[in-house]
Amino acid sequence: MPPALRDGTSAVMPGKIVQATPEAISEAARLLREGNLVAFPTETVYGLGGDATSETAVARIFAIKARPHFNPVIVHVPGIAEAEPLAELDERAREAARRFWPGALTLVLRRRADAGLSLLASAGLDTLALRAPAHPVARQLLRATGKQIAAPSANRSGRVSPTTAAHVADELGDDVALILDGGACSVGLESTILDLTGAVPVLLRPGGITREELIAVFGDIASRRADDHVPRAPGSLPSHYAPSLPVRLDARDPRPGEALLAFGPKAPAGFSEVLCLSRKGDLVEAAANLFAMLRELDRPEFSAIAVMPIPEHGLGLAINDRLRRAAFR
Ligand code: TXA
Ligand code: MG
Repeated sequence: MPPALRDGTSAVMPGKIVQATPEAISEAARLLREGNLVAFPTETVYGLGGDATSETAVARIFAIKARPHFNPVIVHVPGIAEAEPLAELDERAREAARRFWPGALTLVLRRRADAGLSLLASAGLDTLALRAPAHPVARQLLRATGKQIAAPSANRSGRVSPTTAAHVADELGDDVALILDGGACSVGLESTILDLTGAVPVLLRPGGITREELIAVFGDIASRRADDHVPRAPGSLPSHYAPSLPVRLDARDPRPGEALLAFGPKAPAGFSEVLCLSRKGDLVEAAANLFAMLRELDRPEFSAIAVMPIPEHGLGLAINDRLRRAAFR
């Protein structure tokens, strides 16, 4: 039993593994609702979960994963009814969900504009990856939290996915508020990812649901080209959001008609409009604001979006990667 899970306070130490009792799940749900990250079991692999409606929580996920770029994360929902308001489900998607949810299938679908989810969760794409996990602890956590949970596998970028709570503790140490222990994952490899945004379903990642099972439902499905084994960087996807305005990096002085995306306490004067990614120079806050502020400044009344220098460390790497893609045209 966890030492103290009473009175809304926790004696659980950071990074501590707790058995996934109903009390521990309630505690995890409270932590998630407050913007903290919680590792939890699914039937595929352990997930590093955060509130999918919170830009800051999702930015923290990226900070902990230490990815050099923003890779979109899977948003977990209890089932098909909860998926409908978030993305456009056609008959194929509904059939896939009826057959394989809850389970090891992730569907990439067109994101609804009013989904109310973090823009960072989609890494700026207009698509959304949705999955209803089958593991009872994941399901109880989703119900208790009452929100969608964004969760990549609970490993650092480039490492293998964890299939026990101890793997998560080794890998993420004290970086998560809590690790819910639900035993070893029964599937033990990640979910299959199926892209249903085009005319032909495309298998983006093989996983727990086999290609044969999918073919039985969809007839033929396309795979990523055989030579395309390196996951495509989201920034290179054609549907990736790119501002219509030119983007000018490392801006220190204004040019006529420019809007400024500032960083840090001191923004240079003379810009038509200024939005600041983070006044206190916090890269997690900056990542959380990035996509929404780019969209807000992307208005025809400005000549360009100028961006102040962003430090090249921590989440700054992913922010600069994204900004360079936006500036390259
Ligand atoms: O089994 C799983 O899928 C686990 C558990 C925790 O659910 N999660 C998982 O997440 O493996 P992650 O982030 O490690 O892998 C998610 C993959 C990434 O390769 C990402 O690029 C892809 O899903 N993905 C997410 N959203 C996408 C989108 N909108 N379009 C294309 N690919 C997407
Ligand atoms: Mg992963």
